[in-house]
This record gives sequence, C-alpha cells and structure tokens, in this order.
Amino acid sequence: NYYAILMAGGVGSRFWPVSTQAFPKQFHDMLGTGDTLIQKTFNRLAKLIPEENIFILTNERYNDLVLEQLPSVTKRQVVLEPAMRNTAPCILYASLKIKKENEDAVMIVAPSDHWIEDEQAFSNNVKTAFDFCESNDALMTLGITPTFPNTGYGYIEYDKSSTSEIKSVSQFREKPDYETAKSFLEQGNFLWNAGIFMWSAKSVISAFKNNQPELFELFESGYNVYNTEVEDNFIKDNYSKAENISVDYALMEKSTNVYVIPATFDWNDLGTWGSLYDKLDKDENSNAIVNSKVLVEDASGNMIRSKKDKIVVIDGLNDYIVVDKDEVLLIFPKAKEQDIKKVLQNVKANFGEE
Ligand code: GDD
Ligand code: MG
Repeated sequence: NYYAILMAGGVGSRFWPVSTQAFPKQFHDMLGTGDTLIQKTFNRLAKLIPEENIFILTNERYNDLVLEQLPSVTKRQVVLEPAMRNTAPCILYASLKIKKENEDAVMIVAPSDHWIEDEQAFSNNVKTAFDFCESNDALMTLGITPTFPNTGYGYIEYDKSSTSEIKSVSQFREKPDYETAKSFLEQGNFLWNAGIFMWSAKSVISAFKNNQPELFELFESGYNVYNTEVEDNFIKDNYSKAENISVDYALMEKSTNVYVIPATFDWNDLGTWGSLYDKLDKDENSNAIVNSKVLVEDASGNMIRSKKDKIVVIDGLNDYIVVDKDEVLLIFPKAKEQDIKKVLQNVKANFGEE
C-alpha cells in the first residue's frame, strides 16, 4: 500500500546559470556524483516503495527529461502540469489518483532536489511514519534541528517533554519573518520543516476537503476520468484554475492533526550555491570544485563549477561562486547568493531569455 509523490516542478532559480527554466536543478548532477538529483531521490524512495507506485509531478515541459532520466517510469506515473501552481494542487491531484488506485494507500511526498546522507536513517524514519499513518488520521512531517533563523523554511513547534519518537505538533508556521524565526530558535522547541510529508491518502484528501474546499471540488469533479484517455484533457482544462498555494499554507498551518518525527539523518535542501558548497568535498584551501580542472593560488572558500574538464585558473579570490555554463559566466560573492534570483531577472530584462 506504499506510494510516493515526487515533486519535480520547481525551477531552482538561485542555482542559475546551471539551473534554468528549461533545465532546472533537479535534472542536473549538482553534486558531481554521476546521478542527477531526481535520480538520487527516486533511488532513495525505491528502497521503500515499489517503483511503479512512485508518481512524478512536474511541468509538462519537463516530460522528456523525466522519461530520459527515469527510464523505468511509465506514463501512468507521470502527471504533467500545464502551469506552475506550487505544491498544494499537485499534491491533492496526485493523492486523488493514488486513492483511486488504492483506498488504503499510505504515501510519502518528497521534493526531488534534496540532499540526504544517511539513507538508512531516512528509511527508518519514514517506516516509523508509515506505520503510524496506517492507523491514525495524521499529517506527518520530518523535523530538522534549526541552526539559524532561516526565513525560507517552515517551523514546527512540538512538545519537547514527549519522549516518544513521534511528537504532536502545536503550531506549524511557514516562512516566518526574521524576528519571529529568532524567537522560535530561542524557545528551543521548534524544528525546521524538511518539506517531506507522510500520510494516508484518506487523511490528506480529507484535510484538503476541510481546508481547501474549492481546490478539492475542482479536482474531485474529475475523479471519474482518472487513468482514462480523457484525463489529459481534464488536466489541461482545469489544472490552471487551481489556486497557486503551497501545501504548507494550504494544509499544514491550518490542521490540528500534524505530527513530527525529529529526523535522525543529515539534511540539506540544496537551495543555493552556498548550501551545495557546504555539502561538497573541498580541496586543501576549502574550495569546492565540480567538473573543472582547477589551478588555484591564494584562493579559498570558493564554489567552482564549469563544463566537464574545463581548466579554470583562480588567483586572489575568496568566498566566491564561480560558475561557467555555456553562454553565461557568473562570478558572485557567496555572501550575496540570495540575490542571484534578482540578478537573473535583470539578465532577462537586459538580454532576453536567460
Ligand atoms: N510538481 C510541482 N509543481 N512541484 C513543485 C511546484 C509545482 O508547481 N512548485 C514547487 N515544486 C517542488 C519544488 O521543485 C521542490 O522540490 C518542492 O516542490 C518544494 O518547493 P519549494 O519552492 O522548494 O519550497 P520552499 O523551499 O519554498 O519551502 C518548502 O520546503 C522547505 C524545506 O526545503 C516548505 O515545505 C518549507 O516549509 C520547508 O521548510
Ligand atoms: Mg526549496
């Protein structure tokens, strides 16, 4: 009865110029290991879930990338979104499909672009969650011990006195402002939301029905066409009508049956070049190097990536992102990495498409 929803529709614009709208980061080998991020995620899930029960939700423009990179996946498992509507619509749509296949399905919902080192620990946490979700009406999250007031994450307040592995959640707060995030960290009983969820198809669908009735009705009206030839038309005609909202705001902040398992694995959502730098092996001067042949002199703390085997010479540069990709060369301070999104807008405004 185990299923997975793999979310692969984001663009990853802070990883520009490697990640682009035409070819986002989940389809790149960001770590330089030989596998793309979506392949790594698929293989991690396939240890827990039959491959044919892993559904991929992505934008229609990435269909070829999905089929090429995950050759065992069939059309039945891929939902192609005609428009980006964030995570709530894609999760509800896939959950309805899964429930249609299997009333008793229990599933994991996972982003396709995260870094998880200890796969065994990950599997153990997910199995614990699956067991609980099989017999409880629960929306289960995985919590990461926060290290700084990151305003890009969701925060989970849990009962610190609880000694059980699964803790009930008193508050879920998506992307708080800096002061609020700081106070959460000071209180000590908050975890970061890893963005990975586990629940039964029944529980998540009833949560949507209660909290997002419009969205529920929009997709539910197509229930009878799922897995028929008319489904493609149903999606084309209706998907874009869905509200653009993430599951964190749509369900998690509103529900009272949220639980958390403090993750026992090391996690990183690979959101920026700096977070990738943190996870890569470094040379003796703390430079992280992907694909390049690099000669460095008096240079440290740099994130360097180029085309395979390109020779890169760097002298007198510290803590920079140096990324060479086809027509684009980016040399940008690591400390300002969040601004790459804005830079990309400027580039588009001045020079057209990426
Ligand atoms: N299929 C599909 N369609 N996938 C999407 C879409 C969409 O329209 N939009 C986003 N995704 C995918 C992204 O590719 C990513 O893998 C995942 O859904 C999460 O989206 P993000 O845009 O990366 O979310 P976030 O980083 O702002 O916040 C989420 O993740 C944090 C941890 O990384 C939230 O769940 C936070 O609470 C959490 O802390
Ligand atoms: Mg993210």
